[in-house]
Amino acid sequence: MRILLFTGKGGVGKSTVSAGTAAMSAARGLRTLVLSTDAAHSLGDAFGVEGALGSEPVPVTEHLYVQHVDAQRRFEESWAEVQGYLLSVLDTIGVDRIAAEELTIIPGAEEVFALLELRRMAVSGEWDTIVVDCAPTAETLRLLALPEALGWYLERILPVQRKMVKALKPVLTKASGVPMPGDSVFDALVRLHDELAEVRALLSGPEASVRIVLTPERVVLAEARRSWTTLSLYGYRVDGVVANRIFPAGGSDDWRAGWVKAQDDVLGDVGASFEGLPVWRSFYRPTEPVGVEDLREVAEAAYAWTGSVDPLAVPETAAPFRTETTGEATIVHLALPGLAQWVDRDQVQLGRNGDELAITVGAYRRLLTLPAALARMRVSGARVEGGELRVTFSRQTTNTESELS
Ligand SMILES: Nc1ncnc2c1ncn2[C@@H]1O[C@H](COP(=O)(O)OP(=O)(O)OP(=O)(O)O)[C@@H](O)[C@H]1O
Ligand SMILES: [Mg+2]
Repeated sequence: MRILLFTGKGGVGKSTVSAGTAAMSAARGLRTLVLSTDAAHSLGDAFGVEGALGSEPVPVTEHLYVQHVDAQRRFEESWAEVQGYLLSVLDTIGVDRIAAEELTIIPGAEEVFALLELRRMAVSGEWDTIVVDCAPTAETLRLLALPEALGWYLERILPVQRKMVKALKPVLTKASGVPMPGDSVFDALVRLHDELAEVRALLSGPEASVRIVLTPERVVLAEARRSWTTLSLYGYRVDGVVANRIFPAGGSDDWRAGWVKAQDDVLGDVGASFEGLPVWRSFYRPTEPVGVEDLREVAEAAYAWTGSVDPLAVPETAAPFRTETTGEATIVHLALPGLAQWVDRDQVQLGRNGDELAITVGAYRRLLTLPAALARMRVSGARVEGGELRVTFSRQTTNTESELS
């Protein structure tokens, strides 16, 4: 099963290219689902499907299904247990029901449930291709950083909470009348933790990849580059770039000639920035591409640009994270594209705390839990080379202090 995620700045054509790629996959006879995690769902409009789409997959053609994840509904279904507990607590302390209901809607819940839905679809075995039409860049990055971050949090909070509750339960319930969470609340949290770990494994696995959609404009390119770096930091594989809404050359109009020239310059930079990745080109159509056939044509035409790459095949791009053992040392390679180009070296920071490696790039940070074998080793060096961060671990007395920056 192949999972393809499309992201990029607002309005660049993510939904169009996602829908087109899905239509292309379905035309090959692959069971294809395209789902959007963006609250502003527009896949239905793109396909020209009448009426509101349900939160379950709806057929568009024989092999093509579309789904708008309705986070609110999923929230109510999966979170009922935890929410019920929170509501009972709020009720005891006198918060009125309506306010309480609003309070129990956790921020970020939408993203969590979009991910859980993606997982549900992926493990269902019903699909050969799942295309995800993501929200604009910033939200997508938050979405993709979530499984690991939330997993980290749950791993630390769960054991402590459980112990505390056990100890305090008899005392607290009696004294304050505050109900304590039952086992089912913990079970719900444990399940959430496990499912998020699965999501993470699926999305950073070899069959999943992210594609960045952009339009040939400086500001858009700048954001696209940074998102490549950040996606790699979080361990996601980017396997191509779609440059959309390119003005075709021709005619004698000065205005158009000006745009063609300007876009051409940026396209040159796109190629240089995303070296090693296919850059597919999609031209500005005279009308909005709407309907399965139109969308499929847009995608076919774009992917034909680099004829030799099958856009639905499992990518050959290496995973951003790998380890290499040589004698006494193990080197962790973390690809951070753009290092020393659009990312200054001093924006990269490294720290170690026990079994964790904290890697910060600009405003983004990843807390990487080290595999047991590495956790026992000592960091003996770190350097930036060839667009990678290389951290060397060696078998000597451990240094748990963060000694690098
Ligand atoms: N190659 C193209 N030629 C002509 N029109 C296009 C092309 N690509 C996209 N469009 C149109 O541009 C508009 C924005 O595209 P689309 O909705 O796919 O962008 P998006 O990145 O998903 O936007 P959002 O960030 O709002 O989700 C739509 O009206 C779409 O039909
Ligand atoms: Mg969209």
